[in-house]
Amino acid sequence: MSVERTLSIIKPDAVSKNVIGKIFSRFEEAGLKIVATKMLHLSKEQAEGFYAEHKERPFFNDLVAFMTSGPVVVSALEGENAIVKNRELMGATNPQEAAAGTIRAEFASTIDENAVHGSDSETSAAREVAYFFNSDEVCPRTR
Ligand code: PPS
Repeated sequence: MSVERTLSIIKPDAVSKNVIGKIFSRFEEAGLKIVATKMLHLSKEQAEGFYAEHKERPFFNDLVAFMTSGPVVVSALEGENAIVKNRELMGATNPQEAAAGTIRAEFASTIDENAVHGSDSETSAAREVAYFFNSDEVCPRTR
């Protein structure tokens, strides 16, 4: 195992439910450190660029509309095995299939509005962290 960084997005549905702090607690309780974070309201162009790999999928326009419907919280998380660990904390993409106790099982109800995003590979994580943060906005945790 190695120390990794991954990108988390708390999506508009979860921000609207006022559960940012509860989701941050999940990360911290699992040993993940928040090394960068900000709230922003994505533009259409930002959302389309972020989800470019899904451009041809039937839900793409709805996904972009949802992700621009309200503020999101983007964070870089750091820790041992951070990419897989965050995906485990999130639960399955479809909240109906998410294991009990996961973020999506607790805070989401539909696949279209599923509370959180997490990078799915080292390549995605590097691209996604850089998509939202300059290198001087990420603070490695030395203590
Ligand atoms: S899939 O379906 O397993 O291939 O999904 P995945 O590649 O992990 O991510 C797809 C992203 O699109 C969001 N989304 C949907 N996926 C599937 N079906 C529907 N209807 C849908 N609507 C939205 C899904 O939440 C994934 O977003 P992120 O932000 O990556 O979690």
